[in-house]
Amino acid sequence: MSMCSAAEGLREERSCIAVPQAGAPRAAPGRLGWGRPSSASLRPCPGHTRPELPREAAPISRPRLALPGRAPDSSGGGDAGAAGRAAVPVLLLLLLFIFLLVLVPLVAAAGCPGFKFVLSYKFLTAIMRLVILEDYDQASEWAAKYICNRIIQFKPNQGRYFTLGLPTGNTPLGCYKKLIEYHKNGDLSFKYVKTFNMDEYVGLPRNHPESYHSYMWNNFFKHIDIDPNNAHILDGNAPDLQAECDAFEKKIEEAGGIDLFVGGIGPDGHIAFNEPGSSLSSRTRLKTLAMDTILANAKYFDGDLSKVPTMALTVGVGTVMDAREVRTHLVLVACVFSRLVGIDTGIGSKESFVLQVMILITGAHKAFALYKAIEEGVNHMWTVSAFQQHPRTIFVCDEDATLELRVKTVKYFKGLMHVHNKLVDPLYSMKEN
Ligand code: GLP
Repeated sequence: MSMCSAAEGLREERSCIAVPQAGAPRAAPGRLGWGRPSSASLRPCPGHTRPELPREAAPISRPRLALPGRAPDSSGGGDAGAAGRAAVPVLLLLLLFIFLLVLVPLVAAAGCPGFKFVLSYKFLTAIMRLVILEDYDQASEWAAKYICNRIIQFKPNQGRYFTLGLPTGNTPLGCYKKLIEYHKNGDLSFKYVKTFNMDEYVGLPRNHPESYHSYMWNNFFKHIDIDPNNAHILDGNAPDLQAECDAFEKKIEEAGGIDLFVGGIGPDGHIAFNEPGSSLSSRTRLKTLAMDTILANAKYFDGDLSKVPTMALTVGVGTVMDAREVRTHLVLVACVFSRLVGIDTGIGSKESFVLQVMILITGAHKAFALYKAIEEGVNHMWTVSAFQQHPRTIFVCDEDATLELRVKTVKYFKGLMHVHNKLVDPLYSMKEN
């Protein structure tokens, strides 16, 4: 008795069933699983009894892919093949979409040292830090170290300036002293740094001891190696004040935006001279000073209210908030580019994932403003509160300034000090570069 394998028997049975009737539509040969069986496969195995099919048995009908608005294809397997081919680009597009949406950011982030930092709060969106130091001196030193590290890590050179926004007032004095010290020790150079000051009084002669021009020159610029042409301060005596403000904004833009905006606040929570009620999207402009500010600043004018200017030019809240724009959107692209292509663009590296605004708040008289800035919602009556929504803001304060904060807020942020301190430890030096 001749034998035939089970597989052959099965194949035979399938072949038998698939025998089409004359004139019935047939699949094109070789199409995915739907092709006409070859004549060889129709040959019965010797000894295998083939079940008889009734003559009128219809060929097996196969499923058709119904495309809307398209008549069924009478050519057999053509439409399924076409549909299959059409699905390929769709699939590819889908894969590309998933890759761009999910994988690229992850790959980029994983390849960058700022990975955990960035992912710690909504990818590339918001990170607000509160650094609490024991006293004014420590807060000043911490801020100076941070600025120093930022500049050095940026690796500024002739074609790549680091841009720094700067404040005035008593608060930043300790920080400036430290920066001067680093410079004098040869650890830090401002040769390739551009600065933009936050504000200036209107109508006060430039050489007045209380003008912000005098302040910056006496307390900082004359002690460092910055090119005076790179130190920008609004001119409060310009013939057209609004034109002066517009030109200032333009200069910031031309400099490529601010890499790090250092700011100070008044006891009423104003940043620069953005008095309570200022628009949170304001740009550089003329402002009338609030009575609180005039009272607070009278100390610089022999306590005589009548000597305090009543108007000032100031960067807007929006101007400072923009300190994130330039690089935030570039970061991802540059990071992906540098990682994939293997070229160090200098942008997609650690310094691109750092904080862009640093606000110094010290002293018990600023405690209520700090509370408004940190624990209450964004409110244009406390313009510093806008920075809750800035993606990378760091508030540097002393213990006194935290007096109005909840114990749990202080505890929480103090518990993160070991993380914050990584930003300033180790302290870099240009001697090593
Ligand atoms: C003024 C300035 C602000 C500064 C504030 C704080 O209002 N316009 O830019 O931040 O004084 O001054 P101080 O540090 O002396 O409290």
